[in-house]
Amino acid sequence: MMSPSPQAGGRSENMRQLLLEVQSCRRCGLWEGRRNPVLGEGSLDAKVFLVGEAPGRREDETGRPFAGAAGQLLNDLLRGIGLSRGDVYIGNVVKCRPPGNRPPRAEEIKACSPHLERQLSILEPRIIVSMGNTATQYLMTRFGLSPRYIGEVHGKSFRVEAPWGEIILLPSYHPASALYMRGLEYVLRGDFESLRRILDGLVESYD
Ligand code: URA
Ligand code: SF4
Repeated sequence: MMSPSPQAGGRSENMRQLLLEVQSCRRCGLWEGRRNPVLGEGSLDAKVFLVGEAPGRREDETGRPFAGAAGQLLNDLLRGIGLSRGDVYIGNVVKCRPPGNRPPRAEEIKACSPHLERQLSILEPRIIVSMGNTATQYLMTRFGLSPRYIGEVHGKSFRVEAPWGEIILLPSYHPASALYMRGLEYVLRGDFESLRRILDGLVESYD
């Protein structure tokens, strides 16, 4: 049996506080073009935190992560391994939409990183899925690994030490990449199969 988190009860309050901070954040220039910052959503008790890059148009309009076409595919990938959005938590490295969906710049990632760090320490996930290069390079570096390109590391799991214990970092391709490159969807499904296998292992170790 898993022991209850010492934070239980405090997570939603901490996340609500973080949302307020993000809503008024002007630490980088992306605040100027945003309609809504996107902190993230899902279960605050989830074992799995899926991290994307940055909000796009639909996310900026709605304030919700993965609300557009890439989100439809993400929902489908989750469904394919027996999960729904309510079973996981989903967020991004950067919380405001970069203009024209350009990738976030190094200084924007750096400016926004305290928000992601807070989010990680509130959620204390057992598994982090870094989707695409931006999230993978940030998180590999964050956990003391040499950053690598997604093509080299997708679907492989890395045991890393977080302040709340040993966790698994699993890089996967980004769902949006499969919208542009046919054939990648198959690879992406394989990455999510890796997540399924890790989860099955976790379940066994708790029995
Ligand atoms: N792409 C991302 O990286 N994040 C989203 O929330 C949507 C699309
Ligand atoms: Fe603040 Fe992050 Fe938005 Fe920049 S992207 S304004 S650091 S919340």
